[in-house]
Amino acid sequence: MFNIEEFDIKLDTNVIGRNFIYVEEIESTNEFLLKTDDKLPTGTVVLAEHQSEGKGRRNKEWKSDKNQNLTFSILLLPYPKMPNINLINLSTSLSIAQTLENLYQFDVELKWPNDVLINKKKIAGVLIETVSRGDKLEKMIIGMGINVNQPVFSGKFDLKPTSIRIESKREVSREKLLSEILNQFEENLRTLEKSSTKILNAWRLRCKMIGEKVKIVQDKKIKYGIFDDIDHNGFLVLKTREGYEKIHFGDISLR
Ligand code: BTN
Repeated sequence: MFNIEEFDIKLDTNVIGRNFIYVEEIESTNEFLLKTDDKLPTGTVVLAEHQSEGKGRRNKEWKSDKNQNLTFSILLLPYPKMPNINLINLSTSLSIAQTLENLYQFDVELKWPNDVLINKKKIAGVLIETVSRGDKLEKMIIGMGINVNQPVFSGKFDLKPTSIRIESKREVSREKLLSEILNQFEENLRTLEKSSTKILNAWRLRCKMIGEKVKIVQDKKIKYGIFDDIDHNGFLVLKTREGYEKIHFGDISLR
Protein backbone atom coordinates (compact mmCIF):
# COMPACT_ATOMS: atom_id res chain seq x y z
CA MET A 1 0.00 0.00 0.00
CA PHE A 2 1.09 3.52 -0.80
CA ASN A 3 1.57 5.55 2.39
CA ILE A 4 0.13 8.99 1.69
CA GLU A 5 1.46 10.49 4.92
CA GLU A 6 5.01 9.42 4.16
CA PHE A 7 4.67 10.92 0.67
CA ASP A 8 3.18 14.15 1.98
CA ILE A 9 5.98 14.78 4.51
CA LYS A 10 8.55 14.74 1.71
CA LEU A 11 6.54 16.84 -0.74
CA ASP A 12 8.13 20.27 -0.98
CA THR A 13 6.02 21.94 -3.68
CA ASN A 14 3.72 24.95 -3.72
CA VAL A 15 1.21 23.65 -6.25
CA ILE A 16 2.03 20.26 -7.76
CA GLY A 17 0.52 17.39 -5.73
CA ARG A 18 -1.03 19.67 -3.11
CA ASN A 19 -4.39 18.25 -4.17
CA PHE A 20 -3.74 14.50 -4.18
CA ILE A 21 -6.21 11.81 -5.27
CA TYR A 22 -5.33 8.19 -4.51
CA VAL A 23 -7.28 5.34 -6.07
CA GLU A 24 -6.87 1.58 -5.91
CA GLU A 25 -8.23 0.88 -9.38
CA ILE A 26 -9.08 3.08 -12.35
CA GLU A 27 -9.20 2.70 -16.13
CA SER A 28 -6.46 5.29 -16.65
CA THR A 29 -5.37 8.28 -14.56
CA ASN A 30 -4.99 10.35 -17.75
CA GLU A 31 -8.47 9.39 -18.92
CA PHE A 32 -9.94 10.27 -15.51
CA LEU A 33 -8.51 13.80 -15.63
CA LEU A 34 -9.47 14.21 -19.29
CA LYS A 35 -13.11 13.31 -18.61
CA THR A 36 -13.81 14.68 -15.16
CA ASP A 37 -16.19 17.64 -14.87
CA ASP A 38 -15.06 18.35 -11.32
CA LYS A 39 -13.32 21.67 -11.02
CA LEU A 40 -10.02 20.32 -9.79
CA PRO A 41 -7.21 22.78 -9.02
CA THR A 42 -4.14 23.03 -11.20
CA GLY A 43 -1.39 20.73 -9.96
CA THR A 44 -3.84 17.99 -8.90
CA VAL A 45 -2.15 14.58 -8.93
CA VAL A 46 -4.07 11.33 -9.40
CA LEU A 47 -2.19 8.18 -8.42
CA ALA A 48 -3.58 4.71 -9.12
CA GLU A 49 -2.36 1.41 -7.72
CA HIS A 50 -3.66 -0.25 -10.85
CA GLN A 51 -4.97 0.89 -14.24
CA SER A 52 -7.23 -1.47 -16.18
CA GLU A 53 -6.64 0.45 -19.43
CA GLY A 54 -3.35 2.25 -18.94
CA LYS A 55 -2.44 4.16 -22.10
CA GLY A 56 0.97 4.50 -23.69
CA ARG A 57 2.05 6.76 -26.54
CA ARG A 58 0.84 6.06 -30.07
CA ASN A 59 -2.22 4.08 -28.94
CA LYS A 60 -0.20 1.45 -27.15
CA GLU A 61 -1.03 -0.08 -23.79
CA TRP A 62 0.85 0.74 -20.58
CA LYS A 63 0.98 -2.35 -18.43
CA SER A 64 2.08 -2.10 -14.83
CA ASP A 65 1.66 -4.61 -12.00
CA LYS A 66 -0.55 -3.61 -9.07
CA ASN A 67 1.05 -1.96 -5.98
CA GLN A 68 4.58 -2.14 -7.39
CA ASN A 69 5.07 0.90 -9.57
CA LEU A 70 4.02 4.52 -10.00
CA THR A 71 1.24 5.34 -12.47
CA PHE A 72 -0.04 8.88 -12.04
CA SER A 73 -1.14 12.02 -13.85
CA ILE A 74 -0.78 15.73 -13.15
CA LEU A 75 -3.42 18.26 -14.15
CA LEU A 76 -2.16 21.63 -15.41
CA LEU A 77 -4.58 24.47 -16.08
CA PRO A 78 -3.50 27.40 -18.23
CA TYR A 79 -3.57 29.90 -15.35
CA PRO A 80 -1.71 32.01 -14.63
CA LYS A 81 0.59 30.88 -17.45
CA MET A 82 0.95 27.84 -19.68
CA PRO A 83 4.41 27.06 -20.97
CA ASN A 84 5.12 25.49 -24.37
CA ILE A 85 3.62 21.96 -24.46
CA ASN A 86 6.61 20.44 -26.19
CA LEU A 87 8.97 21.77 -23.61
CA ILE A 88 6.77 20.40 -20.83
CA ASN A 89 7.21 17.06 -22.55
CA LEU A 90 11.00 17.23 -22.42
CA SER A 91 10.97 18.84 -19.01
CA THR A 92 8.88 15.96 -17.61
CA SER A 93 11.21 13.20 -18.78
CA LEU A 94 14.11 15.34 -17.55
CA SER A 95 12.49 15.58 -14.09
CA ILE A 96 12.27 11.78 -13.90
CA ALA A 97 15.89 11.42 -15.06
CA GLN A 98 17.24 13.95 -12.55
CA THR A 99 15.35 12.27 -9.72
CA LEU A 100 16.62 8.79 -10.63
CA GLU A 101 20.17 10.17 -10.77
CA ASN A 102 19.89 11.97 -7.44
CA LEU A 103 18.20 9.17 -5.51
CA TYR A 104 19.89 6.07 -6.96
CA GLN A 105 22.95 7.36 -8.88
CA PHE A 106 21.75 5.80 -12.14
CA ASP A 107 23.23 6.77 -15.48
CA VAL A 108 19.99 7.81 -17.17
CA GLU A 109 19.47 8.21 -20.91
CA LEU A 110 16.66 10.24 -22.48
CA LYS A 111 15.26 9.08 -25.78
CA TRP A 112 13.36 11.63 -27.88
CA PRO A 113 10.66 12.62 -27.30
CA ASN A 114 10.16 11.38 -23.75
CA ASP A 115 11.35 7.88 -22.90
CA VAL A 116 13.56 7.36 -19.88
CA LEU A 117 16.12 4.57 -20.22
CA ILE A 118 18.67 2.82 -18.06
CA ASN A 119 21.15 0.47 -19.70
CA LYS A 120 19.16 0.88 -22.97
CA LYS A 121 16.00 -0.44 -21.28
CA LYS A 122 12.85 1.57 -20.62
CA ILE A 123 12.25 2.48 -16.99
CA ALA A 124 9.64 5.22 -17.49
CA GLY A 125 7.37 6.80 -20.09
CA VAL A 126 5.38 10.02 -20.37
CA LEU A 127 2.04 10.61 -22.07
CA ILE A 128 0.79 14.19 -22.38
CA GLU A 129 -2.77 14.86 -23.48
CA THR A 130 -4.66 18.13 -23.83
CA VAL A 131 -8.24 19.39 -23.97
CA SER A 132 -8.94 22.48 -26.07
CA ARG A 133 -12.02 24.50 -26.90
CA GLY A 134 -11.53 26.17 -30.28
CA ASP A 135 -7.91 27.22 -30.25
CA LYS A 136 -7.92 27.73 -26.48
CA LEU A 137 -6.14 25.17 -24.37
CA GLU A 138 -8.36 24.23 -21.42
CA LYS A 139 -6.22 21.67 -19.65
CA MET A 140 -3.10 19.62 -19.99
CA ILE A 141 -2.66 16.18 -18.47
CA ILE A 142 0.80 14.83 -17.87
CA GLY A 143 0.81 11.08 -17.28
CA MET A 144 3.87 9.26 -16.03
CA GLY A 145 4.44 5.53 -15.73
CA ILE A 146 7.53 4.56 -13.73
CA ASN A 147 8.64 0.98 -13.22
CA VAL A 148 9.70 0.90 -9.59
CA ASN A 149 9.57 -2.42 -7.71
CA GLN A 150 8.27 -4.80 -10.38
CA PRO A 151 10.69 -7.76 -10.49
CA VAL A 152 9.82 -9.20 -13.92
CA PHE A 153 8.05 -8.13 -17.10
CA SER A 154 6.29 -10.51 -19.42
CA GLY A 155 4.85 -9.81 -22.86
CA LYS A 156 6.04 -8.16 -26.05
CA PHE A 157 7.59 -4.71 -25.94
CA ASP A 158 9.15 -2.41 -28.56
CA LEU A 159 11.77 -1.44 -26.03
CA LYS A 160 12.76 -3.91 -23.33
CA PRO A 161 11.39 -2.74 -19.95
CA THR A 162 13.27 -2.61 -16.68
CA SER A 163 12.57 -1.31 -13.17
CA ILE A 164 14.50 0.44 -10.41
CA ARG A 165 14.46 -2.83 -8.46
CA ILE A 166 15.94 -4.81 -11.36
CA GLU A 167 18.67 -2.22 -11.96
CA SER A 168 19.59 -1.52 -8.34
CA LYS A 169 18.82 -4.97 -6.91
CA ARG A 170 16.76 -3.51 -4.06
CA GLU A 171 13.25 -2.35 -3.39
CA VAL A 172 12.81 1.39 -3.04
CA SER A 173 10.24 3.69 -1.43
CA ARG A 174 7.57 4.72 -3.92
CA GLU A 175 6.47 7.52 -1.57
CA LYS A 176 9.91 9.14 -1.55
CA LEU A 177 10.31 8.69 -5.30
CA LEU A 178 6.95 10.29 -6.12
CA SER A 179 7.52 13.27 -3.83
CA GLU A 180 10.98 13.87 -5.31
CA ILE A 181 9.69 13.64 -8.89
CA LEU A 182 6.97 16.17 -8.13
CA ASN A 183 9.45 18.48 -6.38
CA GLN A 184 11.75 18.33 -9.40
CA PHE A 185 8.85 18.70 -11.85
CA GLU A 186 7.71 21.91 -10.16
CA GLU A 187 11.25 23.27 -10.00
CA ASN A 188 11.75 22.59 -13.73
CA LEU A 189 8.39 24.21 -14.52
CA ARG A 190 9.52 27.35 -12.71
CA THR A 191 12.84 27.32 -14.58
CA LEU A 192 10.95 26.91 -17.86
CA GLU A 193 8.79 29.95 -17.14
CA LYS A 194 11.94 32.10 -17.08
CA SER A 195 13.90 30.52 -19.93
CA SER A 196 13.98 27.25 -21.84
CA THR A 197 17.77 27.15 -22.38
CA LYS A 198 18.62 25.45 -19.10
CA ILE A 199 16.01 22.71 -19.56
CA LEU A 200 16.94 22.11 -23.21
CA ASN A 201 20.64 21.85 -22.35
CA ALA A 202 20.00 19.49 -19.44
CA TRP A 203 17.88 17.33 -21.74
CA ARG A 204 20.55 17.37 -24.52
CA LEU A 205 23.20 16.24 -22.01
CA ARG A 206 21.28 13.02 -21.38
CA CYS A 207 20.34 12.25 -24.99
CA LYS A 208 22.87 9.81 -26.38
CA MET A 209 21.45 9.79 -29.95
CA ILE A 210 22.38 13.37 -30.88
CA GLY A 211 24.97 13.20 -33.68
CA GLU A 212 24.02 9.61 -34.58
CA LYS A 213 22.48 8.14 -37.72
CA VAL A 214 18.83 7.43 -36.93
CA LYS A 215 15.65 6.00 -38.36
CA ILE A 216 12.33 7.68 -37.58
CA VAL A 217 9.05 5.87 -38.03
CA GLN A 218 6.01 8.15 -38.42
CA ASP A 219 2.92 5.98 -38.90
CA LYS A 220 3.63 4.49 -42.34
CA LYS A 221 6.50 6.83 -43.25
CA ILE A 222 10.15 6.09 -42.49
CA LYS A 223 12.80 8.79 -42.46
CA TYR A 224 16.59 8.42 -42.25
CA GLY A 225 19.19 10.99 -41.33
CA ILE A 226 21.46 12.29 -38.61
CA PHE A 227 19.89 13.44 -35.34
CA ASP A 228 21.38 16.94 -35.47
CA ASP A 229 19.80 18.54 -32.40
CA ILE A 230 16.53 19.52 -30.75
CA ASP A 231 15.28 23.03 -31.52
CA HIS A 232 13.90 25.67 -29.11
CA ASN A 233 10.48 23.96 -29.27
CA GLY A 234 11.87 20.52 -28.45
CA PHE A 235 11.37 19.27 -32.03
CA LEU A 236 13.95 16.90 -33.44
CA VAL A 237 16.15 18.42 -36.16
CA LEU A 238 16.99 15.72 -38.70
CA LYS A 239 19.85 16.29 -41.13
CA THR A 240 19.11 14.55 -44.42
CA ARG A 241 20.66 14.72 -47.91
CA GLU A 242 18.04 17.31 -48.81
CA GLY A 243 18.77 19.54 -45.83
CA TYR A 244 17.37 19.97 -42.32
CA GLU A 245 13.89 18.76 -41.41
CA LYS A 246 11.93 19.34 -38.20
CA ILE A 247 10.35 16.19 -36.81
CA HIS A 248 7.33 16.72 -34.56
CA PHE A 249 6.55 13.09 -33.70
CA GLY A 250 7.72 9.56 -34.37
CA ASP A 251 9.55 6.55 -32.98
CA ILE A 252 13.28 6.89 -33.24
CA SER A 253 15.96 4.21 -33.28
CA LEU A 254 19.66 3.99 -34.19
CA ARG A 255 20.31 2.96 -37.77
C1 BTN B 1 4.70 5.68 -23.07
O1 BTN B 1 5.92 5.61 -22.86
O2 BTN B 1 4.17 5.06 -23.98
C2 BTN B 1 3.88 6.54 -22.16
C3 BTN B 1 3.40 5.79 -20.96
C4 BTN B 1 2.56 6.63 -20.03
C5 BTN B 1 1.88 5.80 -18.97
C6 BTN B 1 1.22 6.62 -17.91
S1 BTN B 1 0.72 5.67 -16.53
C7 BTN B 1 -0.18 6.99 -15.89
C8 BTN B 1 -0.84 7.69 -17.05
N1 BTN B 1 -2.13 7.09 -17.33
C9 BTN B 1 -2.15 6.44 -18.49
O3 BTN B 1 -3.12 5.81 -18.95
N2 BTN B 1 -0.96 6.55 -19.09
C10 BTN B 1 -0.05 7.37 -18.33
